[in-house]
Amino acid sequence: MATNVIFLSIIALSFCCISFGFEPSPLQDFCVADPTGSVFSARVNGHVCKNPASVVANDFSFSGLHLPGNTSNPVGSRVTPVSVAQLPGLNTLGISMVRIDYAPWGINPPHTHPRATEILTVIEGSLEVGFVTSNPDNKFITKILQKGDVFVFPVGLVHFQRNVGTKNAVAIAGLSSQNPGVITIANAVFGSKPDISADILAKAFQVDKSVVDQLQAKF
Ligand SMILES: *[C@@H]1O[C@H](CO)[C@@H](O)[C@H](O)[C@H]1NC(C)=O
Repeated sequence: MATNVIFLSIIALSFCCISFGFEPSPLQDFCVADPTGSVFSARVNGHVCKNPASVVANDFSFSGLHLPGNTSNPVGSRVTPVSVAQLPGLNTLGISMVRIDYAPWGINPPHTHPRATEILTVIEGSLEVGFVTSNPDNKFITKILQKGDVFVFPVGLVHFQRNVGTKNAVAIAGLSSQNPGVITIANAVFGSKPDISADILAKAFQVDKSVVDQLQAKF
């Protein structure tokens, strides 16, 4: 009888855990990414752990987020990431952050983070932000944010920000992955290497092939 109860509990426990869609909690205090590690480990998002005995405070630290990013580019914005590549101590912890600088009327163009929800706050200026829900609704959710306002972009959804002021704007955002990834829609669709066939994109976007050629030349 007791054995049956234990057996059933084990079954129940395994169902709880295999149906869980995200990574399990870390099994150690930390796993500082070891850049010299030669083994690719999927278990810890591609990075093996540095020997815990040799970690130092700098493994958990990044400096420079007070510095404005260079927004002299066609979109007029710059993202300064602090993810596992910049701060190895973030490895396995499921969190990271960015600073985003915007020139007047600059945009952070439509993009998605395949592995993270993003929570953003405006530090300076005003931003128009938005995201679009999945098919078939494709509902556009948008709002103007002032300094101190907070907005969340749910994981995987296409979103953007635009500086709606005549001065520079600054935002800080947290992301729910140490390696959130970013897919900028225009670059992925029109700037892939090699190109997606212009015939395919002309049909997908219901435009003339010359329009696609023009876009592909830009990205
Ligand atoms: C900012 O980027 C532009 C374009 O790449 C470059 O010409 C300029 O020197 C950069 N400015 C600074 C301060 O780095």
